[in-house]
Amino acid sequence: MKDLRENWSSNLGFVLAATGSAIGLGNLWKFPFITWKNDGGAFVLIYLVCIIAVGLPIMMAELLVGRKTQKSAVGAMRETIGPSWGWVGTWGVMAGFVILSYYAVVAGWSIFYLFQTLQWSVSGFPTQANMGGLFADLAANGTMQTALSGTFMFLTVGVVYFGVASGIEKTARLCLPALFVILLLLLFSSLTMEGSGEALAFLFRPNFSELDSAAVLEALGHSFFTLSLGMGTMIVYGSYVARNRSIVNAAGSIVVLDTVIAIIASIIMFSVIFTVPGMPEQVDGSAVGMLFISLPQLFYEVVPFGVVLAPAFYLLVALAALTSTISLLEVVVSYFIDQRKMERSRATLLSGACIYVFTFLSGMSFGASTWLSSFELFEGKAGFFATLDHFASNWALPLGGLLITLGVGWFMSTKDTEAELVATGSPRWFSYKAWLFSVRFIAPAAVAAILIAVIFLGKDFS
Ligand code: PFF
Repeated sequence: MKDLRENWSSNLGFVLAATGSAIGLGNLWKFPFITWKNDGGAFVLIYLVCIIAVGLPIMMAELLVGRKTQKSAVGAMRETIGPSWGWVGTWGVMAGFVILSYYAVVAGWSIFYLFQTLQWSVSGFPTQANMGGLFADLAANGTMQTALSGTFMFLTVGVVYFGVASGIEKTARLCLPALFVILLLLLFSSLTMEGSGEALAFLFRPNFSELDSAAVLEALGHSFFTLSLGMGTMIVYGSYVARNRSIVNAAGSIVVLDTVIAIIASIIMFSVIFTVPGMPEQVDGSAVGMLFISLPQLFYEVVPFGVVLAPAFYLLVALAALTSTISLLEVVVSYFIDQRKMERSRATLLSGACIYVFTFLSGMSFGASTWLSSFELFEGKAGFFATLDHFASNWALPLGGLLITLGVGWFMSTKDTEAELVATGSPRWFSYKAWLFSVRFIAPAAVAAILIAVIFLGKDFS
């Protein structure tokens, strides 16, 4: 039978698209913030261990399931592991739906700050700027929220509509090089700043006395989010990889790039923060605060070439978010194409419209609607946005990840998994035995620990 499934046009295109999925708000927004909260050094080391021991093996597991079956999450889990495992795929599709719906809200804010900084760069930064007030006004403005997140969803739908090679891959080929260039410019600029020495010491000088078990679990939970694991994104992206390509190499590149970018983003942000006296104390509040309240002003006050780099930075955030939202939507769309036999165009428009309903509700939950802002399903997590984020980070991704790693590790034959990982050639650093040990023991135990902490200890990883 002729294989009609669309494939990536090249291996580089696939690696760029998957790296684009991985690099997103998680790297530029969440990682620097949780690193800050957990006092740097030791946390970064633990994070690296989680990425290598748990994230990388699960990334390979997801890619191999997709590549072997050439099917998206539901069909792939059913075919490789067993008919009832289709549910794990369905769970992933739902997770993609949920994450995209609230992710688009923050992505929309990056568009706002892109235009706002462009305007400041042209007409001057206001002397009496109240950045906290500006953000609070934006957050509570329902019309702005709706328009900004709507624009972002429109862009995402526009890319996915054109399919794997002409939509997703082409966009990644354009966005990722731009993203790397902007990030390097920002890095060079930040390294000339006074605070850069302190920033590097903060990030790379481990102080284990500051570290507790909650930090370890937070690093673990974040490694799922940042690598787009636990919901079938990498199954779907793997399903478009031609059968003769090595997925081990690809997984290695994606993981290294994602990690390097998260660390560079932190160097940039911390260099700026440490340069301004009193700033480290102020930033402690929230992740949103760091990205949208502290940084805009600092760009104009302390960053060399800030007039150019401020808009460049928010463009970077928007591009990184776009290549991630595309992958989230693709998980949902590929479900409708493969399982419901829908045309891509219809599947994309339908999924985009349904998800946007939830995006709208999330955007209204920062003050625009009292009911949505105080909506509380999980204790202490008020607001529709916070509810979705809590559900995704604490439940959807860990549970999905646990089932995928258990399924691949214990229910697929080692003959099959070895063939997928090794037959197409694998690099010298790869050991099949170590991989198998991780997906069977280390990864399930680690992910189970997250769920146990959520269920029994009331921990929150959102
Ligand atoms: N990896 C993305 C980030 O770090 O922002 C978030 C994400 C994208 C999670 C796609 C899951 C996913 F399927």
